[in-house]
Amino acid sequence: MRGDATETPSILFLCLGNICRSPLAEGAARAAFDARGVAARLDSAGTGDWHVGRPPDARAQAEARRRGIDISDLRARQLVPEDFRRFDLILAADAQNLRDARRIAPPDATARLALMLDMVPGRAGESVADPYYGEEDGFAATWSDVRAVAEALVSDASG
Ligand code: 4NP
Repeated sequence: MRGDATETPSILFLCLGNICRSPLAEGAARAAFDARGVAARLDSAGTGDWHVGRPPDARAQAEARRRGIDISDLRARQLVPEDFRRFDLILAADAQNLRDARRIAPPDATARLALMLDMVPGRAGESVADPYYGEEDGFAATWSDVRAVAEALVSDASG
């Protein structure tokens, strides 16, 4: 039951390719939950299938590594309807991911679907910008956003 503090939260981070924003969000969340000693089931996925089976983009791996976090073992996968029954919360990076996710959601979905930045006070409705086609410094901005999301989530989970 959601809202029960004794229940381990299960959170899926979602973006388009599952090689930039959502693996960074998963890495940031793993680090934040581990640092507070709070258990959580965390995963990430993409709405698209172009990169399925691949590790995170080298620029995303480098950004995480700068923070002492290794995301090299993550592998991209595509969002499936079952995810809406397996997770409490699915957090989309941007408004397009949110629209695409709504199309994939089955009628008996139990997951709550929201934007990643809806979790951060004062940033509801904002998207995490897609860094894929941009310059390297876009990944630092992505990290800053997903770290704020991770901190907000772990604060909520640890009361
Ligand atoms: P992500 O970034 O959604 O943050 O993983 C992208 C990765 C790949 C593509 C677009 C965005 N792509 O077009 O291949």
